[in-house]
Amino acid sequence: MAKIALFGANGTIGSRVLREALDRGHQVTAVVRDPAKLSEAPGLTVVTGDVLDPKSVAAVAEGQEVVVSAVGGGDGPGHIATIEPAAKSLVAGVRTLGDAAPRIIAVGGAGSLRTPEGKQVWDTEGLPEFLLQIMHAHGDALDYYRTVDDVRWTNISPAGTIEPGERTGTYRTALEDLVIGADGKSRISAEDYAVALVDEIERPKHVGERFTVGD
Ligand SMILES: NC(=O)c1ccc[n+]([C@@H]2O[C@H](COP(=O)([O-])OP(=O)(O)OC[C@H]3O[C@@H](n4cnc5c(N)ncnc54)[C@H](OP(=O)(O)O)[C@@H]3O)[C@@H](O)[C@H]2O)c1
Repeated sequence: MAKIALFGANGTIGSRVLREALDRGHQVTAVVRDPAKLSEAPGLTVVTGDVLDPKSVAAVAEGQEVVVSAVGGGDGPGHIATIEPAAKSLVAGVRTLGDAAPRIIAVGGAGSLRTPEGKQVWDTEGLPEFLLQIMHAHGDALDYYRTVDDVRWTNISPAGTIEPGERTGTYRTALEDLVIGADGKSRISAEDYAVALVDEIERPKHVGERFTVGD
């Protein structure tokens, strides 16, 4: 059983991570802005907090083994503005806990992954400007994490498409290459992404690096 603080627990991806972690018997502190959105559940504690405030991060991170961040989202400017500052705030917050600092596992983006043509996903022609900005914000956050060597971090890029769907319990991983299915599509259900993330909590294989998950 791990003690996990989860930012973004009300979100599309975060809510699947919450369900998966609770179903496996972990103790989860969901850090949300509106606690009314979450129902009580065994193993769940709900607190309010702001991922962009390092003091708030440190307060909820104390006594935890892992801090998971699934923040961002939506189609407003707040999505882009949250991603890299959240990475910096998470690191700054847990860093204050010194040797007791939990590891960070952050939901990343697919934009920086390599395509079979040897380009990065964000080089694909015709991507809308808003999506490009989100992809590069995740790229900037990943670049930042890669400068951090005094806090244990892992960044998990979803496949090209991640949507609510079936929990099959299976997935494939790669480090820098987009995971693509036999039909040429790169996708993962949010449920299977959550399986991979909680597997990484239980059996750490990617401390200090990014990996990606596809079906
Ligand atoms: N293929 C891809 O690469 C791909 C695809 C989809 C998503 N993603 C990434 O995955 C992440 C999560 O996406 P999602 O679709 O699950 O988003 P979502 O459903 O919109 O959920 C985002 C969550 O972030 C929380 N949040 C935002 N700002 C916060 C703050 N300052 N403090 C605390 N919590 C905050 C929101 O809390 P409230 O409930 O309080 O608003 C919400 O629960 C995003 O970074 C997104 O870019 C990547």
